[in-house]
Amino acid sequence: MFLESDTRMQVGRAQESKIKPDDNSRSLGKRPVPSMKPFFPDEDIREMISGLEKILRSGKLTLGSYTSKFEEEFAKYIGTKHAISANSGTSTLEMIYRSLGIEGSEVITPTNTHIATSNAVIFAGGKPVLADIEPDTLCIDVDDAFSKVTKKTKAIVVVHLAGLIHPKIHELQRRCKKEDLILIEDAAHAHGATINGRKAGSLSEAGSFSFYPAKVVTSVEGGMITTNNDTISELSRQMRNHGSDSHGLQVRLGYNWRMSELHSLVGLVQLGRIEEIVKKKNEIASVYNNELKDNRLIKILKVPPYIRHSYYKYPVTLERGLNISKIQETLKHEYLVDSGTVYYPPCHLQPVYRSMFPELKGKLPVSEDVLARTISLPIYAGMDTSDAIYVARSLAETIQSVR
Ligand SMILES: Cc1ncc(COP(=O)(O)O)c(C=O)c1O
Repeated sequence: MFLESDTRMQVGRAQESKIKPDDNSRSLGKRPVPSMKPFFPDEDIREMISGLEKILRSGKLTLGSYTSKFEEEFAKYIGTKHAISANSGTSTLEMIYRSLGIEGSEVITPTNTHIATSNAVIFAGGKPVLADIEPDTLCIDVDDAFSKVTKKTKAIVVVHLAGLIHPKIHELQRRCKKEDLILIEDAAHAHGATINGRKAGSLSEAGSFSFYPAKVVTSVEGGMITTNNDTISELSRQMRNHGSDSHGLQVRLGYNWRMSELHSLVGLVQLGRIEEIVKKKNEIASVYNNELKDNRLIKILKVPPYIRHSYYKYPVTLERGLNISKIQETLKHEYLVDSGTVYYPPCHLQPVYRSMFPELKGKLPVSEDVLARTISLPIYAGMDTSDAIYVARSLAETIQSVR
């Protein structure tokens, strides 16, 4: 065992860390480990610089060939008929909701997500109805979601949390069909995640991706809709470009939500790396699984064998009674390890929703209990095995020290 079981380390002893080198890894000395880092190998940076030059010389800076190519390749990768790019994963959600006409309707969203998932419902004129989560997957609780369906409900949004495709996605598909509800995937964490070989973003009426820098792949900023639905595709293309149709006529109200050629270039080069990135993240996750699986104070999430996780984040849920903020502070200041949450506070406890939906506090008990005890560990393609061992052992040591 890495720690003697009853050792009570003092905060600040990381300098003389008991972290022992592994036989086959480099020294496990103290090192900074950020929670995320985009993956840009030299070769890709060169490709981006050369693409940048081409774009600048062409004079076509937006809605040009890089954007078309990125959309084409992304649709091919996800396995949908269409992919429509935009400037963010918030605008892609709003365009999906608007295309489906959710105005005046209710849309069920999990409380455990980036608040953009439900904010965009409001922006599109609907009402988000927040559902609780399952403690074992941190994804939407399917029964709780369906218990909230009313005559006004039009859609349910599943967020593949941290990159785990909801293991109950087929049940969600079946029950939505039966109750005449639209299923939407917020796949902002799940680029490259699969279930039985099918990709996140192809498992519902429409998928929404974000390319924010922390995501599995990035376009610096940006978003993408994936869908087989021609209407969603056409309306979204219009909405992102001031409501213009293919002849340049403004046929509806719209925005400037275009993805520039420069962002598309970065996204396209990153797409070429996605399999490598997801594979690497899975390797890091298996190091964490292996290191943490026997620690009774730490619960790791189980992934069914038919699902490939994309590991946008690696969440662990800690035993009740542990001081999470002290653990995170110690990890950061004593071990130089950044950690995060997924998500705390959840949407219904964020100040903005506390004032809009005050009745929800205490009504989504699993999320309130579990998310307050859940942290996410660093996971990115540039990490190596020894970084992951260092992080896992730092966490184990920290938990012992602050108990
Ligand atoms: C689940 C989820 N949905 C939507 C978004 C919004 O994406 P963006 O930041 O690109 O607007 C995020 C973002 O970070 C997210 O994690």
